[in-house]
Amino acid sequence: MQTIEALDVKGRRVLVRADLNVPLDGDVITDDGRIRASVPTISALASRGARVIVCAHLGRPKGKVAPQFSLAPVAARLGELLGHPVAFASDVVGDSARATVEGLGDGEVALLENLRFEPGEESKDDALRGAFADELAALAELYVGDGFGAVHRKHASVYDVPKRLPHAAGGLVVAEVEVLKKLTEDPARPYVVVLGGAKVSDKLGVIANLLGKVDRLIVGGGMAYTFLKAQGHEVGKSLLQEDQLEQVSGFIAEADKRGVELVLPVDILAATTFAEDAPHDVVEATAIPADREGLDIGPKTRELFASKLADAATVFWNGPMGVFEFEAFSGGTRAVAEALVASGAFTVVGGGDSAAAVRKLGLPEDGFSHISTGGGASLEYLEGKTLPGLAALED
Ligand code: 3PG
Repeated sequence: MQTIEALDVKGRRVLVRADLNVPLDGDVITDDGRIRASVPTISALASRGARVIVCAHLGRPKGKVAPQFSLAPVAARLGELLGHPVAFASDVVGDSARATVEGLGDGEVALLENLRFEPGEESKDDALRGAFADELAALAELYVGDGFGAVHRKHASVYDVPKRLPHAAGGLVVAEVEVLKKLTEDPARPYVVVLGGAKVSDKLGVIANLLGKVDRLIVGGGMAYTFLKAQGHEVGKSLLQEDQLEQVSGFIAEADKRGVELVLPVDILAATTFAEDAPHDVVEATAIPADREGLDIGPKTRELFASKLADAATVFWNGPMGVFEFEAFSGGTRAVAEALVASGAFTVVGGGDSAAAVRKLGLPEDGFSHISTGGGASLEYLEGKTLPGLAALED
């Protein structure tokens, strides 16, 4: 992959695909991690005299203009972080975008409106996607792919535009790929993976692939209940994916066959309802009462998971251990995060909710070797899939 240093950018219009998909509460950004992670590449290009046109998506507006998904608040925050105002185009490839790009001077930065307001961005129809990619590419002379969190999407701005312009990978993409390569090629051992989050169905591919690579697999969060059920235990009203039971039973057998240590919760914080202030107590993971749902791992499990992380040399963690957004059920996620920090291992936090949890719980970001900006993207990389956005940058 060519990097931005190889591009002659001075005075040229450079389209940067970033991942600025941040959580919002109204128009307030609740976690600006992805914007901060995008700043170094944008700054580097601007300081070399490029006219930087940033494009990105926010949420899933599905090809229609939807004001609640406007990138306007992101433009303001990006400007603050860059220390220079960012011109904001109120459309993606229309009059406002063209005028905004026209008005850019050397070293200045603009942000286009949400790419996903355009139906061509995510279209499965190559011609429709290609037509939109033509319009986007026409705004610029060079392309930089730096939206790591979106490289697993075969979208116009990720996959088709780099086929139309001289291109390079931005610093964020280079850094993310370097870390994930370390995990896949020759991880220092013991290599421990911690998976959590609501749905086991989101993680099938990665589990299947990791069983051939890891020494220990720790499973917590909502997906653990399907594992417990597959082992024959009652899980009450806890999250359960009945349709995945067979597959999960297969994983349990496969782990056993391959000598991978599978570590599941031994106790659970079980509540009467799914609510912040729900009455709850600690129950054995093998006997969750019929009227209770598990919302976090229990104290014995926190200790068990921490002990299974203490001797690790490499750790990848994706997915919270419980409903960390509720204070009362955030202890398990916090305990795992703290165990990662204490382990002294090469630790990678895989995007999405786990990265947000680290920041929300006020844990020191520099306590981890790497916090990925890509949730789905890092999982698909570890699954061994070809990621369209990386493939396009390789060409
Ligand atoms: C993410 O949030 O993981 C990326 O921004 C990709 O978003 P998407 O899952 O809506 O494609």
